[in-house]
Amino acid sequence: MFALGALVLSASMGALSYFTTRHVLVSDSDKADFRLAFENATSVAQHVAATATIVQTLTKVTTPNSHSLLEERGTWYERTFDLTQDDIPVSLRSMVINHSTAASQTYTLHGSPQIAIGIPIKSIHGAYFEVFNVEDLAHTLSVFALGLFVAGIVTTALGAVLGRWASGRSLRPLAGVSRAAVAIAGGELGTRLGSTGGDPDLAALTNSFNRMVDQLQERIEREARFTSDVSHELRSPLTTLAASLGVLEGHVESLDPPARRAVELLSADVRRFQRMVGDLLEISRSDTGSAEISLEEVDPAELVRRAVAAVHRSLPIDTPPPTVEVDPAVSGTHLWVDKRRFERVMSNLLENASLYGGGATAVRVTPGNGSSIRGHSVRVSVEDSGPGLPPTERAKVFERFYRGNAAFQRGAGTGTGLGLALVAEHVRLHGGKVWAEEAEGGGARFTIELPGQPAEPDDELAEGDGAR
Ligand SMILES: Nc1ncnc2c1ncn2[C@@H]1O[C@H](COP(=O)(O)OP(=O)(O)OP(=O)(O)O)[C@@H](O)[C@H]1O
Ligand SMILES: [Mg+2]
Repeated sequence: MFALGALVLSASMGALSYFTTRHVLVSDSDKADFRLAFENATSVAQHVAATATIVQTLTKVTTPNSHSLLEERGTWYERTFDLTQDDIPVSLRSMVINHSTAASQTYTLHGSPQIAIGIPIKSIHGAYFEVFNVEDLAHTLSVFALGLFVAGIVTTALGAVLGRWASGRSLRPLAGVSRAAVAIAGGELGTRLGSTGGDPDLAALTNSFNRMVDQLQERIEREARFTSDVSHELRSPLTTLAASLGVLEGHVESLDPPARRAVELLSADVRRFQRMVGDLLEISRSDTGSAEISLEEVDPAELVRRAVAAVHRSLPIDTPPPTVEVDPAVSGTHLWVDKRRFERVMSNLLENASLYGGGATAVRVTPGNGSSIRGHSVRVSVEDSGPGLPPTERAKVFERFYRGNAAFQRGAGTGTGLGLALVAEHVRLHGGKVWAEEAEGGGARFTIELPGQPAEPDDELAEGDGAR
């Protein structure tokens, strides 16, 4: 816009200067030429009257850079043969000779600009014409126009540079605001805008932005603390409740059937409640940033085999064990993982496969594409041959308390919807990602990708539809 403004301004100023100057120069030169031609015409009239030969007369009145011609009763006289009457525009000749009016006309002759002036001389029934070459004037004007053109280009370029500099300078604070907003949206709640360099307008923006983020941070932390406090507070009475239930369960044989049924229902719900409180505590720890992760260097194939075996022991007795397939390309790669968290991830995935997909069919260990994760990443996928996940649910299942179609088909009482949210949290803490897709044969496939090097605290690695 600056460049365009400079272009319009310099073009209009240039055009104005050019046309004004041209008008002034041309009219000055016109006047001078006219005066000269008039004097010459008067002189010619006097000489002709004094009977000198006409050509001699013309020789006397010539001025440099001009040609004189005389018409007398239809006969033309020229001083030299450089110019004949045919070189004077017809319209000018007719105006001067036929209408006895003095006139001038600018035109181009043999590629060079001329001004022809015609003055009728009544005393000899003729007309005097003088043709001035105005090439010098035209040259001056074209140099002037070129100068203006170059000045216009330079002004436009300067306008562009100045505009870029000024807009960059004025937008720099906004770019800072935008960067800070992106960082805050990415979870870096400690981000604040820095000093404004004394600009009062910016100071107001910076202050209100920082105040807004303060309030936001305080609110988020308060909510995370609330969940954590509630879970903590619930844990002790729940432990007492579970212990008392344990005592009751020890005497369940002596109870009559309705009371026994009540104890069974109660203990199932208390266990579910305990698990939910445990999951909530774990999630709130990573929300408040107090989650600790103890990484160890492990062999992925070994890790997965052990985790699958451990989890399988806790699953219902009739669940067939999944086959563990390890891609040979993974051998030699090492992962940095927190074993406890990894086991929780595997247990959540295998438990889900068993609950909603008729049991996991395969657990595959393959090399990751490594393009977004440091080092040689490794993928672990858990597949089942159940109904799978509809595409609309694939991202949602990682949300807290989200329970999908499959859960409701099994009856609402079984889970809490926190399992996959925790999986996503554990994987995020490792700097990895997790996503759900359709397995060959229509079942569900949950894949986690873990980095081959320890994660940085602020890694932003989630990508793709449904990846967490
Ligand atoms: N293998 C699977 N096949 C089909 N649907 C699945 C599968 N795994 C998970 N889901 C769907 O994803 C939802 C969320 O799973 P998630 O593990 O988070 O919760 P949950 O199993 O219902 O409860 P929780 O694990 O907390 O006890 C489930 O309710 C289910 O609808
Ligand atoms: Mg689950």
